[in-house]
Amino acid sequence: MLILGIETSCDDTASAVVRDGREILSNVVNSQVEVHAKYGGVVPELASRNHLMNMNPVMESALENAGILLGDIDGIAVTVGPGLIGSLLVGLQTAKGIAYSLGKPLAGVNHIHAHVTAIFACDAAGNDFARGASGRAPRFPYIALAVSGGHTSLYRVNSFDSMIRIGKTLDDAAGEALDKVANLLNLPYPGGVSIDRISQNGRADAVKFPRALIGSGALDFSFSGLKTAARNFLLGLDVKNAGLKPDTVADIAASFQEAVVDVLVEKTVAAAERENIEDIVIAGGVASNSRLREKMPEAAGSRRMEVHLTPLKLCTDNAAMVAALGYYRLKASDFVFDMDKVISMDARAESND
Ligand code: KG4
Ligand code: ZN
Repeated sequence: MLILGIETSCDDTASAVVRDGREILSNVVNSQVEVHAKYGGVVPELASRNHLMNMNPVMESALENAGILLGDIDGIAVTVGPGLIGSLLVGLQTAKGIAYSLGKPLAGVNHIHAHVTAIFACDAAGNDFARGASGRAPRFPYIALAVSGGHTSLYRVNSFDSMIRIGKTLDDAAGEALDKVANLLNLPYPGGVSIDRISQNGRADAVKFPRALIGSGALDFSFSGLKTAARNFLLGLDVKNAGLKPDTVADIAASFQEAVVDVLVEKTVAAAERENIEDIVIAGGVASNSRLREKMPEAAGSRRMEVHLTPLKLCTDNAAMVAALGYYRLKASDFVFDMDKVISMDARAESND
């Protein structure tokens, strides 16, 4: 079964073709980073307008790269939420138009659920992407940390149909905090990537930043206090940020990143312990962070847990993960044609995330 995936929940316009929920035949992402960079964050109105311009060319490239025609697809999967409403609408209306004109089924997919199941994808030759230390795929049920610019949540993933959120951020998402602090340090957008890069030259113990809700037993996160601590630390230095020495910037970035990573690791491992689960998956844009990819397996390994790292190209937003999960939705006949059902699926995405 060939599924065409469409993803426009935030600022990336993406389309992909995936066979049988696993094999990625194409995966095209048009990033709008340059459009939003000068604002230091995503401007929703600009995101929707750019999706409108990019959607058809991106979809055509996905079909061409997969070596198929639109008529060859067996179904369509589209992100229905959570996300920016104007952005979501572009993808959803495109998907509905194609489904209607071809008479093919359309599945609505929850963006976060797609992130936490992307780990099962393989390349067009059928080779699995790199995974945990043992090389095997994660086994249900597993604990998934979905960590991005918009979300920081822990899930108990029982199956492709059953994903229970067991922890969430009470304020900022980890990626949002990284982006904002990078902005304070005058680092280029998207900030998480800059902080990761510059931290390689910094000392992670240079500044003592707080780790919120650690050791509390709760699986919820909080990053706004940490963000304020970084801002206050910078104010205390009494230097214009532009005048900060590169070494100081690297030390602050590395220390901040360490605090974020420590919290993510502690909560994820605590979730696995509480649920008595061995397998852990990390997914979402921040899951590409090199320090997190190093520390999470270290912490889990000492507790006989195994961490499965989502491959880098499937961490940030993409439509391959949407097409892959859409396959299971379509197999379960969980598909939609009419607006009432689309709205109810939107509501479901909202209530879950
Ligand atoms: O999943 P994603 O592409 O979009 C959302 O759904 O939010 O995640 C984007 C987020 C941004 O906050 C970005 O700064 C962060 O992921 N990010 C990183 C890294 N790469 C992307 N954060 C830390 N280290 C990275 N290497
Ligand atoms: Zn995402």
